[in-house]
Order: sequence, then C-alpha cells, then structure tokens
Amino acid sequence: MIRTIPTRSKPYGIVRYLGTSASLTPTIKEQLLASPPVGSILEVRGFVKSIRNSKNVGFLDISDGSTSKIINVVLVGKNQPKFQVGESVIVKGEWDISKGKGQDKELKYNPDDPDHTYEIIGRVPEDYPLQKKATSMSFLRTLPSLKHRASTIASFYRLRSFLETQMMGFFNNHSFTRVSPPLITSSDCEGAGETFEIKSAEEFFDKKAYLTVSTQLHLEAIALALNRAWTLTPCFRAEDSKTNRHLSEFWMLEAEVSYLDDLEPLLNFTEEMIKYATGKLVERKEDYLDGTYLDKEVIESRWRHVLGDWRRISYNEALDELNSKGANLRFGDSLNLDHERVLAERGPVFVTDYPALMKPFYMSKSLKYNQEKPTVACFDLLLPQFGELVGGSLREHNYDTLVESMSNNNMDLEDMDWYTNLRKCGTIPHGGFGMGWERFVTYLSGHDNIRDLVPFPRAPGLCKA
Ligand code: 4AD
Ligand code: MG
Repeated sequence: MIRTIPTRSKPYGIVRYLGTSASLTPTIKEQLLASPPVGSILEVRGFVKSIRNSKNVGFLDISDGSTSKIINVVLVGKNQPKFQVGESVIVKGEWDISKGKGQDKELKYNPDDPDHTYEIIGRVPEDYPLQKKATSMSFLRTLPSLKHRASTIASFYRLRSFLETQMMGFFNNHSFTRVSPPLITSSDCEGAGETFEIKSAEEFFDKKAYLTVSTQLHLEAIALALNRAWTLTPCFRAEDSKTNRHLSEFWMLEAEVSYLDDLEPLLNFTEEMIKYATGKLVERKEDYLDGTYLDKEVIESRWRHVLGDWRRISYNEALDELNSKGANLRFGDSLNLDHERVLAERGPVFVTDYPALMKPFYMSKSLKYNQEKPTVACFDLLLPQFGELVGGSLREHNYDTLVESMSNNNMDLEDMDWYTNLRKCGTIPHGGFGMGWERFVTYLSGHDNIRDLVPFPRAPGLCKA
C-alpha cells in the first residue's frame, strides 16, 4: 500500500499534491486534480452532504464547495461512527476503485484500520435546514448565511468566479488596462436620479456625494489616458424595481475604447467578448453542469443562443418589426420587456440608435442623423427570454455639442467641468459599454432570478444581514 499522501501541511519534508498550495491544507478540488494513486491514504475535509445506509455498508457524501465534485465515502466494518447531514468532518481512509455506479473512485473508511480516522469538527442542530432533498430557491432565500452551501448556489459562485477570470484574460489579450474608478461620486452618470445619497457627505466633503450608478464618466477620463480601459465594480441604484433582473447593489463590467467613431467595431467587440467567455465555459461544461440542479437543457440552449448568430437592427427597424406583429409603437416610445423578448425571440439582438430623448446626455448623435427624429449612436444588447444585458454608445467628444446637451439636461456645468475638460484637452472620439455582471452570470447559469446569484442581495425592502 502506498502511504505517501500527507495528512496535514508542513512546510518541509512531505510529499505534496501537484498543484496544491505549499502552506494550506488541500481542498477537495486540489485533491481530485492530483489524482491520488489507488491505495493511498487520503484525508478529506468538508460537509456531510448526504448519508445512506444499507445492510453492511454506509455511504457518506462529502463536499467542501471548492468544486462541484463530491467525495463518496464508503463506511465498511462494524462500529461505524454516526454522522449527521451538515456536519463539518475530516475523514481519513483509503482511496479505492469504486464499486458503485457513476463514480470511479471512493474513499474507504474502516474503523478497524489504525490508519483510518475521522473527526467531527462542527456538529449541527437537529433541525439543520439543508437536508439532502432538493431545496427550493425561495426556501434558500430564508437562509442568508447557509444558502451558500446548497449545490446550485455554490455553483453560481464558482461560475461567476470562472467568468471573471476569463474576462481578465480577454481584456489582457486586447491591450486593455484594468482600472479602479471611484465608487463615491459627485455626479449622477445616467442622470436618472436613482442615486443613493451619502448621508454625511456634505459635512465630510463639503458637497453632496452619491454611490456610483455607473463608473463610465470616470472610466472615460482614465481610458483617454490609456487608450483602452475596463473595470468590474459595484454599482448602486435606488431604483424602485422589484423585478428578478434588478438589484440595488450590483456589479457592472464597463469598457471604454479610444479612437472609435463608429458603433460597428464596438458591437463586434462586445459580441466577441461575450462569445469568448461563453466558449470557455462550454469547454469546461462538466465542471459547471455537475453542480447545478437547474434544467440542463435550458442552460445549454442559452449557451447555444450566445454562441449562435446575433442580429443587429436599429430602433426604427425594431418598431417596424414589432408593429408588424401587432404592437402600436411610435418613435419615442420605450421598448418594454415583452417587446425586448419578441425582438430576441430567435437569438441575441443589438438594437441601435435609440431616440436621443430616451438616452443620457453623453451619447453622440447617430451617424445617420435625422433632425425630425433625432437618434444617438448607442446600443442595447437583448438576450432571448431575458431582455437587456448590455448598454453602450459612442460618447460625445465635441466640447460645444456636449455642453449644449448638458445644458438641455439642466446639468451643473461647473460641477462637471472635470468631465467636459476632456473634450478641450486633446479630445479623442471614443465609446464603450456596461454589462450587468449578475445578469450575465444569471443568464449563463440557466437561472432567471438575479437575486439568487449574489450572496446577500440588496433590493427595495431587502437588506438582510
Ligand atoms: O444600461 P445601463 O444603465 O448603462 C450604463 O450605466 C452605462 N453608463 C454603461 C456604460 O456605457 N459604461 O446599465 C448597463 C447594464 C444594463 O444593461 C444591465 O445589464 C445592468 O447594467 N443593470 C443592472 N443590473 C442589475 N440591477 C440593476 N438595477 C441594473 N441596472 C442596470
Ligand atoms: Mg440600459
């Protein structure tokens, strides 16, 4: 029998798993990646996920959240210890070929073998709520500190982390610098009046201050120094939307690109970015699909939609399309969620060039500008059965035109001179977009409620823990 696998980490003199940290006890993910040889002694740590007993053997599933994979422990021999679902345990036994179906290795624990040990580190109360049976999302929402241990919720977090890493690689490969714009701001970027005002700001800063709704304006200043910049940051909106697609605190991925005077390259880039991260996910699909209890067909059909063909239509073309299907929309009407879903029925669609009046002050005029029906060079990306995921535009880079638009929006020009100044000092045509990060992860996860994607959701009337 090979007995080389260490039980505790020590800095020197022990054989370590390939790819594990030198100083921490290994996670189950690290242990499985290392493919320990059959017959070796392995010590696993995690929560008891389920317990089954048959005549002569017992079975214990142990998971530690580091991976969707579970360690199946087979309890052989008499005088077996009693475990409870939810307990945190350490079990040391022999890594063996599995006799069960659907798994190839298991951990054999035999109390009569002096090399096999166990320890219950944390017990659970009798009414521990997370039992083996599939638990509904609405029930999990009542458990703010424990829900993270449910397989599907934990798989959301791992998916989010994976996608973040992919984005990091994608932007690096496209010569973007990742930057950190401020979260406390004195301006309302979107001008929609949905800011959370900071209570002590006037005393503290001598002026009103807010939590940011989008870091775009600051990102523009930074990108205009670095050519391209991106960020993934929290945003806060005091928006009274109690939908499953809105949070009061959410994260936005924003990118800003210099030397851009046409929307098309920005649409191409946005599409490429989303397809890149989704393609990486598909390459590693088992890692995600194994952990979730959501409908795998729904998940994979969403991935197919993202990787398939996308359409590009203007707002005016969208109106024609919707009106031909019985809507009664006129120029200037906003598209509601039902309209968005009709447009994106067959796949993702970019809707471009919305009426200027419907959009914020910073957007530049459309290339094909029409005095009668003024539009701006912007886009929304709509996803099937889901709605808006990304919003972006070219930014007005001409000083006079920008100032005129700000005056029309009754903005305080003096307070915004740091922003308008950019158009006086070596102005560059530029543009960018913002993608709702939880919306992106929600869509790819196959789920429909953004609130379950964040560990502690904040929404109107909801700020638990
Ligand atoms: O369309 P929005 O409001 O655009 C902006 O804020 C721009 N300044 C972004 C930019 O160009 N840099 O927001 C961008 C995206 C939306 O498409 C949506 O996916 C997400 O952010 N979003 C929300 N996600 C969750 N909860 C909310 N309350 C959200 N509001 C917007
Ligand atoms: Mg938008």
